[in-house]
Amino acid sequence: MILTEAKEFKAGKNYPDLTGKRVINAFFEPSTRTQYSFMVAESKLGMLPINFNVETSSVKKGESLYDTLKTFEMIGIDALVVRHPANNYFLELDKIQIPILSGGDGTGNHPTQSLLDLLTIQEEFGKFAGLKIAIVGDIRHSRVAHTNIDVMTRMGMEVSICGPEQFNDSSAPYIDYELALKEMDIIMLLRVQFERHGYDLALNRETYYEEFGLTEERVHSMKDHAIIMHPAPYNRGVEISNYAVECSKSRIMKQMHNGVYVRMAVLKRAFSE
Ligand code: NCD
Repeated sequence: MILTEAKEFKAGKNYPDLTGKRVINAFFEPSTRTQYSFMVAESKLGMLPINFNVETSSVKKGESLYDTLKTFEMIGIDALVVRHPANNYFLELDKIQIPILSGGDGTGNHPTQSLLDLLTIQEEFGKFAGLKIAIVGDIRHSRVAHTNIDVMTRMGMEVSICGPEQFNDSSAPYIDYELALKEMDIIMLLRVQFERHGYDLALNRETYYEEFGLTEERVHSMKDHAIIMHPAPYNRGVEISNYAVECSKSRIMKQMHNGVYVRMAVLKRAFSE
């Protein structure tokens, strides 16, 4: 349903009218694609997006997440988009009466990213069942990996993971990287989440690139029809080469573009219930 609507919106059809609905994009972690594509989606629907600045808010005086968001509800905001570093942050928000859309929670989930990934895959292959995907990199600290492993498995895809041992959380079967490159329909790379490690993982960027970096040579070992995905931002020269970012197999730019339309569909759904 969301994907069908996202495709309609992408074709410029059937926009719902959410004129005048006020939405606050409350990002407690840095974000470029998710935050600004939500804003573009909101403005395409006629909504009034309001950005939230943690640094100049009462969060700096120690105000809790719940008290901050409840304030927004009381001043007349119609919906909230929230990204927060705490896993399951929404569990403490059950007394909020307006829709809360997730922009990602800690290392937990990133639902709209998964939806835009699914849209990109559907446009490419026209199906999900039977497709082979390897998610490569910092699986343990990636909310993108965690949502996609769950959702893509449920869609009938064969999901494998790959990367340095310290990032393997056994959330899917492990596959050797060189084998994955030869066998997969989709190679999905992840950014090494340096900011979430909190301890020294003894990870050397050059060694990572040698072992798991998607070099031009490795791109050429992929199947003819296979594609490269990455939620971005990417660390060029760590998990991906300059060549791979915008090569003909890359769908990374398309993922960004599709993000606007799935977010429009998610916003429509939030106001339809
Ligand atoms: C991802 C995120 O924030 O989880 N970025 C995004 O939303 N496109 C991935 C990342 O930061 O590595």
